[in-house]
Amino acid sequence: EAAEKGGYDTYMLKEIYEQPTALTNTLIGRLHDETGEVNLDIGLDPASFKRISIIACGTAYYAGLVGEYLIEGLARIPVEVDVASEYRYRHPIVSENTLAIVVSQSGETIDTLEALREAKKGGAKTLGVINAKGSSMTRELDDTLYIHAGPEIGVASTKAYTSMVSAFLMLALWLARARGTLTEERAQELLHAARELPRLVEEALSPERVERIRQVAEKYAGARDYLFLGRGVNAPTAFEGALKLKEISYIHAEAYAAGEMKHGPIALIDENLPVVVVATESPLLEKTISNVQEVRARSGRVIALLSDGDTENARHADDVLYVPRAHEMVSPVVNVVALQLLSYFTATALGRDVDKPRNLAKSVTVE
Ligand code: AGP
Repeated sequence: EAAEKGGYDTYMLKEIYEQPTALTNTLIGRLHDETGEVNLDIGLDPASFKRISIIACGTAYYAGLVGEYLIEGLARIPVEVDVASEYRYRHPIVSENTLAIVVSQSGETIDTLEALREAKKGGAKTLGVINAKGSSMTRELDDTLYIHAGPEIGVASTKAYTSMVSAFLMLALWLARARGTLTEERAQELLHAARELPRLVEEALSPERVERIRQVAEKYAGARDYLFLGRGVNAPTAFEGALKLKEISYIHAEAYAAGEMKHGPIALIDENLPVVVVATESPLLEKTISNVQEVRARSGRVIALLSDGDTENARHADDVLYVPRAHEMVSPVVNVVALQLLSYFTATALGRDVDKPRNLAKSVTVE
């Protein structure tokens, strides 16, 4: 087993460090620099859909939420995202013009598999964003976009998530291309940003950054609760950060789109509550910072994820985790790495078994 972990203490840490390679494998051969072409080898007609349903569970669901933002933003098609356990029982409205996209690392999650069957029954075309080759879902889907992240053993999903989000970026570009919703310049800019991802994630894993995250994790490891906030395309980054922390450290964590804070969760804030805020470069950054100030004014402890060089906003935080600057549309992939590490080091500081957290299975094949 030690050999399989490749010198790392745990599969989870190994998989966190595999992300630059996993992302290269997700993207390679699919985005073409010179021609600006997106070649996903999907037989479905990208111009034929009037709406898209994204269906998944857990971390894959959060990847789907980023997907919604990317597809609606770039390809201008209405998207809804459901957790599979709800979708399969809510009598969804489906037609031949619906593209149902199921997202799954294992391809075996029973709720997602049943939701896929439900979508097919209604006449939807189906596409999978899947990691495991030849898994049950791939045998029932019209088409599969494999993410090629490689085997993921750690129960807490890491590299599958960043590869899923990158797959959604490619899908959004593929749909946008077919529908003519992007200028050539914008398409090039996004293709370039996508191709930069492996390098940026490599940079996010530099020894100095990892050490800094470890120190911050240890500083707050005694907290009973955590709050995570983010906005726009990075609201799901906050959701995923909170899920990771819960899964492997057993610390209670909640996550909200930052603008929702004043509608309730603000009542939780006191000097014992660490609040992780994703506040990287974005047109909404000013609004996020005003949410940070609201936390600060109530004595909350702010851990801010800021883009490299943003010294201006550092003064609003108790602790800053700097992350590499990235195009906003790809930033969820880069930003989440810091949150994976934050939960990892919190869990190890508390002596948890991160690869086999209590009560969890790698894939949930019974309802
Ligand atoms: C992630 O850390 C989880 N363990 C879990 O939420 C997982 O993402 C979910 O069960 C879906 O699994 P799948 O991608 O294999 O369908």
